[in-house]
Amino acid sequence: MKNLLNENLFTLNNKIAKVKKMEREPTGIPGMDKLIQGGIPKNSVSLISGSPGTGKSIYSLQFLKEGAKNQDQRCLYISFEEEPESIINQAEGFGWNPKELQATRKLKIIYNDITKRMLGENETYVDIIKGQIEKYNPDRLVIDSLTPLSNLPVSFEELSQYGLATDFDRFSPIGIQQDLLIRLQMHKLINIVRDAGCTSLLISEVKKNSEWMSADHVSEFLSDNVILLRYPGGNIKRTLKVEKMRGTNHYEDEAAMDITEEGIKIKQLEEQFK
Ligand SMILES: Nc1ncnc2c1ncn2[C@@H]1O[C@H](COP(=O)(O)OP(=O)(O)OP(=O)(O)O)[C@@H](O)[C@H]1O
Ligand SMILES: [Mg+2]
Repeated sequence: MKNLLNENLFTLNNKIAKVKKMEREPTGIPGMDKLIQGGIPKNSVSLISGSPGTGKSIYSLQFLKEGAKNQDQRCLYISFEEEPESIINQAEGFGWNPKELQATRKLKIIYNDITKRMLGENETYVDIIKGQIEKYNPDRLVIDSLTPLSNLPVSFEELSQYGLATDFDRFSPIGIQQDLLIRLQMHKLINIVRDAGCTSLLISEVKKNSEWMSADHVSEFLSDNVILLRYPGGNIKRTLKVEKMRGTNHYEDEAAMDITEEGIKIKQLEEQFK
């Protein structure tokens, strides 16, 4: 009996030690790490969600700047939205010296122009992203954003690749299956990102006051963490809310967020009104 008790105690202590030992990535965003017990869990997948102009790209860039500049990590920004020049200008405006970080190969920015890039036979953007991650092998990764991936038209060939269409379907409407394919693609992408051994932020755009937290309506369930940026109106211009963070305790209210000359800063509401 005593042995059994000791054994159980040993397992429990081990579990506590493991929880305590969860490695964290400091975000480099003043006030943020305090909301999430010291940083984003290492190797987790976070969805950064919000309507246009809420600060998703700046937040993600600041996270990479922290990795590249202060943690000696390799940081990869895969953009489907903005061209590299515009991202670099933005970062320079905040005084983050992106060109220096690029020169030391700590920061890599890749732009996938969906209006120009031709996909190969049976190739999808998920395959392209996989190749880019494998080639650079980052410690921190940002994909800005997932939205074009969930809006691209899906061909009959892609549907058959997933076993969702047969020759019989070639001439019939495939609306519902297309939706399913987008979900499968997001599933595949998030698994690839999770297996890549890096800490990643995936950006998703949502309409103001949307009940969903992503454009594809599925990545919020697949991601480990969800961070929602908002313009609530009224006294507080911008807010950030940790909607979920697996395996960690977190501040559950909306926190006030500011974009300043040095980048994003977060304040808990009780601090805000002191
Ligand atoms: N130097 C600055 N000082 C204060 N606010 C700034 C500064 N630079 C940008 N902003 C604010 O940040 C907003 C843009 O942030 P960001 O590009 O991260 O938004 P986003 O959520 O990525 O938008 P989108 O969905 O359009 O890509 C601007 O609309 C502006 O309000
Ligand atoms: Mg953006």
